[in-house]
Parts: sequence; C-alpha cells; structure tokens
Amino acid sequence: MESRHGIVILDFGAQYSQLIARRIREHHVRSLLVPYNVSIAELRDMQPAGIILSGGPSSVFDEGAPHPDPAVLSMGVPVLGICYGLQWIAHAMGGKVEPARQREYGRAQLHILNDSRLLRSLPSPLPVWNSHGDEIVILPPGFHQSGKTETAVGAIENVEKNIYAVQFHPEVRHTAHGDQILANFVFDICGATPDWTSKSFIEHTIKSVREQVGSGYAICALSGGVDSTVAATLVNRAIGDRLRCIFVDNGVLRQNEFTAVFSSLEHLGLNVLGVDASARFLTKLAGVVDPEQKRRVIGNEFISVFEEESKQFREAGFLVQGTLYPDVIESVSVKGPSAMIKSHHNVGGLPEKMHLRLVEPLRELFKDEVRRVGADLGIAPEILQRQPFPGPGLAVRILGEVTPERLNYLRAADEIVYEEIRDAALYESIWQSFAVLLPVRTVGVMGDQRTYGYTVALRAVHSEDGMTADWVRLPYEVLERISSRIVNEVRGISRVVYDITSKPPSTIEWE
Ligand code: XMP
Repeated sequence: MESRHGIVILDFGAQYSQLIARRIREHHVRSLLVPYNVSIAELRDMQPAGIILSGGPSSVFDEGAPHPDPAVLSMGVPVLGICYGLQWIAHAMGGKVEPARQREYGRAQLHILNDSRLLRSLPSPLPVWNSHGDEIVILPPGFHQSGKTETAVGAIENVEKNIYAVQFHPEVRHTAHGDQILANFVFDICGATPDWTSKSFIEHTIKSVREQVGSGYAICALSGGVDSTVAATLVNRAIGDRLRCIFVDNGVLRQNEFTAVFSSLEHLGLNVLGVDASARFLTKLAGVVDPEQKRRVIGNEFISVFEEESKQFREAGFLVQGTLYPDVIESVSVKGPSAMIKSHHNVGGLPEKMHLRLVEPLRELFKDEVRRVGADLGIAPEILQRQPFPGPGLAVRILGEVTPERLNYLRAADEIVYEEIRDAALYESIWQSFAVLLPVRTVGVMGDQRTYGYTVALRAVHSEDGMTADWVRLPYEVLERISSRIVNEVRGISRVVYDITSKPPSTIEWE
C-alpha cells in the first residue's frame, strides 16, 4: 500500500488474533499480526498508526505469561488492549489483576460510563462477547473505567496517554457494534487512512515487484489454483514476458483439467509452458501405498521436472510463489501443532537448490483478499472461485496404490460430484467437495446381476482457512443424485458413503 501506517496487532495467542487483523482490513486499513515479543525497534520500523494488544490464554501472573516490552505503551502511538491485552496493560501500569470471583464466558451487557472516547456514540447497555477468567480489581493510576458489566470492569481508558482497553472481544460478531468500536479506535483515535484497497494494493505491488526484480527474469510454477494464478498475473503485469510460467501435468489432476487450465492461463496473457509429465509421475507412484511416501514421490518428481524444464529459462534469478498471509504469520494460535501432520509443501527446497530469490506478492493477503485482487486484475470468476486442490492431487484421494484404472474411476466420480454440487448452486459456498476412492470392494446388485465394485466416499466441508473444518449438511436430494449417478455411470463402483467427520479430529483429505 502507499501508506505504511496501518495497525499492528501484538499476538498473545488468542483464538481471535487473526480475526482482529481481518476486521481492521474490512475498514480498508492495513493490519499486521506480529508475535507479542517483537522488538520496539522493529515496531517503530513498521510506523504503525496504532497498536492492538490481542487476547490470549494466559493469566498475567502466570509463570511464563507473555509480557511484551512495556515501552510499547510509551511510543507515542495509541494502544488498544483486548481481553488479555487489557489485563496486561492494567498489570504493567500499576493496577491489579486477580482471578475473577465470577468468570465471564459468552454474552454480557456492557454499561458505558462517563464520556468514553473509545465507546463514543454507542448504545448502552451494549451486548458484548466475553471470554475471561481474570479481572481488574484496582485500576492503574491515570485510568478511568469507561464501561462495566454486572461483575467486572469492562473497559478502561487513559485519554492523555492514548491507551484504551476492553475486557470483551469487539472483533467477534456477537459483540454489537464491535465494528464501530474498532473504527473509533482506528480512525478517530489513530487517524489511520482507509487506503488498503485491492486497486492500491495492485499498484503498490507492481511497483515493488519491479524494484525487486529490476531487469531480471522470474519463473513460476502454476497449479491452476487461485493463489499461483493471481501471483503470476500480478508479476506478469510488473515485468511482462520476463516471467516464465511452467504448468506440469503430474498425472493426478482431475478430468480434463490440464487442457482447461492451460488455456485459461494462456488467456490471461501469461507466458506458460505446459509439460505433460504424467507418465513419469505414474511410474514413480507404482506400488507406493504410504500417504507420506506418495507426497514425497510427487514433491521430488515435481522438483526434478521443474528443474529440467526451467533450464531453458537459465537467466531466471527469481521464483514467484503464491504464499498467503496465514502461512507467514508466526502466531501461536494460527500455527498449531497441526502444522506437521501432513507434509504440504510441494516446492520445498527449490529456491535454495536452484539459487533463486523468492517473489511472494501475496504474502500479506488473506484468501478473500486474493480473490478481490484477482477480480480487479480481470481473472475470470471460474478461476477465482475454484475450491482448493492439493498439490499431490488425486493421489491422496485414492487410498492405497494409485493405478491408471483407479484414477479413471475417481476422475469420473469426482466429475459427477462437481457437476451436482455446482448445479445445486452450492459450489461457491463450500470450501471443498470431492470424491475419495476406497480400495474396498462391496457387493451390489444391478439389473439382477451381482456386482462387486469399489466404494466411493464423498467429502464436503465448510472451512475458513483449511485449519479446521466441519462437514456440510448436504441436502438429501443432492446426496441421492450424487450417489445414484456415481453407481449408475461409473462401472466398477458399487457403493457411495458420506464422510461426516469434522477437522479436528479428522483432516480434510483422507491421506
Ligand atoms: P488437510 O487434509 O490437512 O488439508 O486437512 C487442509 C487443506 O490443505 C489442502 N492440502 C494440500 N495442499 N499440498 C497442497 O497444496 C498438499 O500436499 C496438501 N495436502 C492437503 C487440502 O486440500 C485442504 O484444503
């Protein structure tokens, strides 16, 4: 963005930290989430218009509780504490925090007191969302109480020092006028400018990619997915044909996908080399049953193909990747222990091996922002609304060995799932919907004939970011059409089942 003066959020590990960043961006103000222990020098470099201290699971008096450098409170930048943020401010500025006599979880009524600057022009009492086990028992000197709930101090402020804090969560929708509270802080108190729009993002990014790449060349591996397509289109706008893209058919793509995606990429004006390496991949996958081994085989083969093909672009010094903000944030709450459950990175190790420097034009964006940028770049809605598809493709949706025969079954079943979900107008509201082929044969009967075919599992999930997911309550009619079409149209499949597990404890893909 032109203006670097956004809001910096110090993350104390709350479930909602990322949500705060998103809410601020909904007001078209740049926001960054950083670990709570960022140094003051780094904070100053970010030139924030305001600082938010997030909530977190600890108690301020716990051993090992997160304490940022107290100098954040005297940088001359307005501060807003939320939940743990409030407690830490009170604790650090000479007040007293104790375990609450009555803990508050969920809904509460906030009575706004005095002439609060933060809570200005809001109705009182205000329904708010709470989640805390500690409370302020003595206010820090210089602060006044600007809001209270039945049992606890709900909001405090020190206008002179420009420090504000609330016990509840303005970032969650259950808090009425939460958006207004954040807007009061961001605009009235911090004076931030609403210039985080996709148009200004595009202009700024094109400029910075030009600066980074200079007169050099870049290469990019396209997958046909939203992120790599938007990243490449942005870089193409910056450096034109000096960006060379490679799109590899790894043999485990969906039906007709290679041709369809290839032509839509060319249509975008990208300089794309299409490589049919399917035979190589399938040979390497023969006999492989272990899920992690499949991922490794595909990842390594991809790197070999990419290295070989990019020899003709020897001049390239940069690699473009569609990394998004959630992958970058070093947040306790975002990166859970789940980060290591499956190996996800398909081009891991490539930049070091090929001595390439990374260009990551989307590393500050959330997925919905990427879609908006893509729309402003003129990318078709069919590409932007595409559901995520894993790098190892159908290989992790065929349990057991991947064979050409099994791929044919799965491709045909997957196409039916796609058509029916799309025709029921559900495709865009679902995070992912797909078929999984189980190497389990069951008995059926068709036209008085005994059948003995494979089983297909249907998976459809809602999710915000793939980290957690819930299964979709698909209408019975849709389930019925999918099941009946698969069994009737895909010879070799005699049964369809529906996966009704959420993530956790399960994962989205079966392998
Ligand atoms: P899981 O199965 O771990 O998947 O719940 C979470 C999200 O990640 C996608 N996924 C992958 N994406 N390479 C990718 O690019 C991979 O190896 C990979 N494995 C899973 C999955 O489709 C879901 O959206």
